[in-house]
Amino acid sequence: MPAQASPDIVVAFDRVTKTFHPGTAHASTAIRDLSFSVANRPDHGEFVAILGPSGCGKSTILRLIAGLRPHFPATSGRVIVAGRPVEGPGPDRGMVFQDYTSFDNRTVLDNVAFGLECAGVPVRERRERAREWIGKVGLDVVRDSSKYPHQLSGGMRQRVAIARSLILRPRIILMDEPFGALDPAIRLNMQDLLVSLWRDLEATVFFVTHSVEEAVYLGDRVYVLSAAPGRLLHEIEVPPPERPAREMQREPAFGKLVFEIRDIIEKLGVMHRPQDG
Ligand SMILES: Nc1ncnc2c1ncn2[C@@H]1O[C@H](COP(=O)(O)OP(=O)(O)OP(=O)(O)O)[C@@H](O)[C@H]1O
Ligand SMILES: [Mg+2]
Repeated sequence: MPAQASPDIVVAFDRVTKTFHPGTAHASTAIRDLSFSVANRPDHGEFVAILGPSGCGKSTILRLIAGLRPHFPATSGRVIVAGRPVEGPGPDRGMVFQDYTSFDNRTVLDNVAFGLECAGVPVRERRERAREWIGKVGLDVVRDSSKYPHQLSGGMRQRVAIARSLILRPRIILMDEPFGALDPAIRLNMQDLLVSLWRDLEATVFFVTHSVEEAVYLGDRVYVLSAAPGRLLHEIEVPPPERPAREMQREPAFGKLVFEIRDIIEKLGVMHRPQDG
């Protein structure tokens, strides 16, 4: 059985190329011949952090896994999730974007309950589960449930976006620079929150970031991509987040690993500086 179809593999890219507007003057290739596979770790869930220069195809990779157009479908090659080619979006995959996607005209409670509403879960049950998730992401159920997105800070809105996605308990969580717009202190709190939710869900996570610290802290492994069109240059195993972000990110061994990866990236040439130092 080829590796891509093995039950031990949760996501596989098999020589995937994505060219936008192929055959025209505007043709642009986001990723070329990209191959990787991520093991299914049933009691753990692999956490893959993705680093790479702007425009190298990181969002394209996540959206191909999510089955979201226009990135989906690939121009050539195969994107396999749980042994099958991706055919479009599905409840097994949940996406969290940088820009806190919520409905402006829905309260926090109704935003968090949205996916359950789409799935036809009765109103009482979905509101109960939404309240539980509002608490899980560190919002105040009594004070915050009836607020609208414009009444929330960026960090709070991102908590709502995370709850909205994770309430459906996806087996694969796709996060595209979710903490990129948050200030450094809030960002560390959100990293701790994500670690605790991930431990509970035991899902496979793909997490795109421009922060080497964030990638090294959160990841089980870090993928370093080349400049566009993106190829996988390095796959680096890193220690799991065993202690709170603030504590672990101050330790010398952590700093050493961050510098090693930063050196690798600097040798590649252009790379965004992490936003939080
Ligand atoms: N809808 C689209 N139509 C045409 N080209 C696109 C489209 N989306 C992305 N691209 C191109 O594909 C390439 C990869 O884009 P992608 O958004 O995946 O990069 P990225 O690594 O996520 O960048 P960033 O770090 O800036 O978010 C870029 O050259 C981009 O211009
Ligand atoms: Mg992107």
